[in-house]
Amino acid sequence: MYNDVIDCNIKNFSSIPLDYSWSFSDKTIKDTAYITHNYYTYPAKFIPQLVSRLINTYTKEKELVADPFMGSGTTVVESLVSKRCACGVDINEIAYLISKVKTTPLDIELLKKEYLILEEKFTNYSVLVEKDILVKAENIVPKNDRIDYWFKPKQKEELSLIFYSIFEIENIDIRDFYLVAFAQILKTASIWLQKSIKPTRDMKKKEQDSYNLFLCQAKRMIKRHEVYNTMLDKDFISDINKYRKLKCGDSRVLPLENEEADFIVTSPPYVTSYEYADLHQLPSLWFGYLNTLPEFREKFIGSSYKNRGDVDNIDLKSDIIIDTINKFSSNEKKNNKKKIREIKNYYADMLESFIEMKRVLKSGGKAAIVIGNTQFKNVDIFNAEIFCEQMLNIGFKVFDIIHREIPSKMLPSTRDSATGRFAKTSSMDKLVYPTEYILIMEKV
Ligand SMILES: C[S@@+](CC[C@H](N)C(=O)[O-])C[C@H]1O[C@@H](n2cnc3c(N)ncnc32)[C@H](O)[C@@H]1O
Repeated sequence: MYNDVIDCNIKNFSSIPLDYSWSFSDKTIKDTAYITHNYYTYPAKFIPQLVSRLINTYTKEKELVADPFMGSGTTVVESLVSKRCACGVDINEIAYLISKVKTTPLDIELLKKEYLILEEKFTNYSVLVEKDILVKAENIVPKNDRIDYWFKPKQKEELSLIFYSIFEIENIDIRDFYLVAFAQILKTASIWLQKSIKPTRDMKKKEQDSYNLFLCQAKRMIKRHEVYNTMLDKDFISDINKYRKLKCGDSRVLPLENEEADFIVTSPPYVTSYEYADLHQLPSLWFGYLNTLPEFREKFIGSSYKNRGDVDNIDLKSDIIIDTINKFSSNEKKNNKKKIREIKNYYADMLESFIEMKRVLKSGGKAAIVIGNTQFKNVDIFNAEIFCEQMLNIGFKVFDIIHREIPSKMLPSTRDSATGRFAKTSSMDKLVYPTEYILIMEKV
């Protein structure tokens, strides 16, 4: 417990000793991809073992665990297989779909039956596609120039036929399962520069057989789902919606009553790092969630495209934010006004998220916030200390602070020293956050 450290030094947590039992450095990528965790490559995903340990430490069976920034649903999966009830919310429609599919028990025989039907259709399409089917398929694909920007004509045609065939599946849960398999292959099937987290085109990228990519992904997922079904309690299998509540929405409007949640575990978005919207643009384009990028980006907390008109009148409840902003303001060489506004917007949104977490938590309930510190133009951004200060000021107290090392194989990438954004690894760059914190805050 580090209550004493916090009391005397809220402005700097770096002196908290690292607790290596939280680094999970013995876990391989395969270990972290168990059950349904590997359905979709979601940026900044949790290590499932970390979530599982938190849930098992702080809750009992049938208690309710909530994640207001659920992303690809790691918390929801781990809660349900540990016989806890789960509530997950994310603003991103794709995140909602992935989390729903990863946690819905499905009839494996039905999944396999539909797989065989799809396989037969694709075998026929690869020999000959009747004109009217192609027209029907192309008609259900949203009209958006960015699809043509990312996909070559042959790839677009194959993907349209896969997409159309998935929509012919009547059972909605099975259809959604195959839509996630479809979403997962889009990057590889497009000309998106492989392994790049920046939206960059690679005009020389080798064309892949989309049918094959899709069927391989679906086959892998069916195997995993069989395992998931066996790990769920039979009560959960018979009525999953009684134990699981998912919503595509804002972290500041959780679908829970006052004092309903026993525990929160979450990893919030960062400021000045990922533009989440851009990273999810391929499935969002195909599923019709994205009309224009600027409009799509705005709703994501941490996006540089977000703009709250009221931010100068809000008490952000943190002196450390004021220090940080002063450091940017004193850097006269550069015009940092835009960055200062981004930072204020972000912490205002996060403060509102913490207030909502407090509303839904039971008295004495705990919130585990997993967060690392970052740097922009050589100014440290002490997210962990700022979140802690904001939470202390709205009625939480510190229960524990865990300082953990992030093993190098799990580090997302490095930070570009000029722009502050995540970039491809290079020896010149600084590791983004080789350590991070788990703030365990208790509602007073
Ligand atoms: C670090 S990721 C969470 C990843 C997650 N822990 C997992 O294991 O996949 C942060 C998430 O916050 C979401 N987000 C951003 N703004 C949001 C908002 N206003 N309300 C809810 N979720 C939001 C993003 O879509 C993203 O999925």
